[in-house]
Amino acid sequence: MKTIGVGLVGCGTVGSGLVRNLSEANRLLQQRLGVSLELRAAAVRDPSKQRADLPVSPVGDWKSVISNPAVQIVVELLGGTTESLEVAKAAFAAAKPLITANKALLAEKGSELIPLAQQARVPIYFEASVAGGIPVLKALREGLVANQLLGIHGIINGTCNYILSRMAEEGSDFADALRQAKELGYAEADDRLDVDGIDAAHKAAILCLLGYGFLPPFAKIPIEGIRKLEAQDVSFARQLGYVLKLLAVVRPVGPDRVEVRVAPTLIPARHPMGSIHGVFNAVSLVGNLSGPVQFTGRGAGPDATSSALLADLGEAARHLRDQSPGPVLSAGDGKRRLLEPGESVGRFYVRFEVRDQPGVLAQIAGIFGTEKIGISSVLQPEGHGADSVPLVFLLEPAKESALQKAVAAVQKLPLNRSPARILRVEDLA
Ligand SMILES: NC(=O)c1ccc[n+]([C@@H]2O[C@H](COP(=O)([O-])OP(=O)(O)OC[C@H]3O[C@@H](n4cnc5c(N)ncnc54)[C@H](OP(=O)(O)O)[C@@H]3O)[C@@H](O)[C@H]2O)c1
Repeated sequence: MKTIGVGLVGCGTVGSGLVRNLSEANRLLQQRLGVSLELRAAAVRDPSKQRADLPVSPVGDWKSVISNPAVQIVVELLGGTTESLEVAKAAFAAAKPLITANKALLAEKGSELIPLAQQARVPIYFEASVAGGIPVLKALREGLVANQLLGIHGIINGTCNYILSRMAEEGSDFADALRQAKELGYAEADDRLDVDGIDAAHKAAILCLLGYGFLPPFAKIPIEGIRKLEAQDVSFARQLGYVLKLLAVVRPVGPDRVEVRVAPTLIPARHPMGSIHGVFNAVSLVGNLSGPVQFTGRGAGPDATSSALLADLGEAARHLRDQSPGPVLSAGDGKRRLLEPGESVGRFYVRFEVRDQPGVLAQIAGIFGTEKIGISSVLQPEGHGADSVPLVFLLEPAKESALQKAVAAVQKLPLNRSPARILRVEDLA
């Protein structure tokens, strides 16, 4: 049986999980795929740190791992986009397949990385970069390859889903739920990548690459996180039959545009995605032939991420054994582009804070009417402060630009008390 040498660059949370799981999983890879893996070199920032499970002496210089002749596959688990890009380039230059869990690298540097991999004819494997233990990229690359994709929806950040679940179940406000997430190790001390939606947008960009054949320019993806969400919006959503989730949406619009965005979004409570709680992830795909397909599972953590890395290692090792080129990543044919901001059409939830007086509802409804935006439900809860009351509208599909115009007009009225809260609504039909 062919034994393939693996070089690890980075051995932190994910890398040490991979090392811990390697020998047990290797037995299965031998039985099932007829390949065997051996960790032959590893680089870390601080080689003097004790690392119980690591079977090789780590070095501080990752270049020596890549140039090591016993290493045939490079696994990059550093994180970040600067040094990891250098690692990727060095792996391509050495003609060694690259396996990475680094969504930021792919989403932000993919337009540089992918052509380099193509020129070098070196495969990149990145199942672990999206939704950890859920083999969703494999499904897009293989199981659903003959489908035109009608849309992808994802709850793909476990930290945000944990926070939103706490807010929904316990009525906690955002700050309390975030504190709990940090205490339990579900949120990093620097919470910005998760809470501000950037991590989910990295994954959405990768889903777009595999689903629609192009990598959207990362800076142009509309991204909204959950930091400004208020407990009252979570509660109003529930009263309207919805739950709030940080949702990534990737879907075609017409023949040549794709909408990619991440935002806190109301989804129907009765939809299977509505029951994804805590740190779990879910991705729902709709193929023109397959119909709806949904995956649920652990989106992060050392074991779930190892599952994806080990599957990639098995695939890369098989290609090396068979001397086949492995999957070639395409940056697309240039025919599809990101939908322009404002062109998006969807349903919205809008909460105004207004003076408590007769005629307010009619005035606002009139403004929506002028912009030809239908109203599907209104909530006018009682028992709030004397000076202002929330007034919540659930709207029929409208162009985002028309919605913004209507909201701006309402906000100019003397009855308006504070900026409106606008949230997306997806019925996931
Ligand atoms: N954590 C998750 O659950 C998860 C899930 C999916 C994907 N990912 C992705 O997996 C990647 C790794 O995440 P992580 O959570 O494992 O990160 P981490 O715990 O911070 O580990 C980073 C590792 O890289 C090493 N390192 C940093 N700079 C280095 C350098 N210049 N040369 C050599 N080694 C260096 C560190 O060395 P020291 O140990 O000496 O500090 C550490 O071992 C990231 O791209 C992340 O987005 C993470």
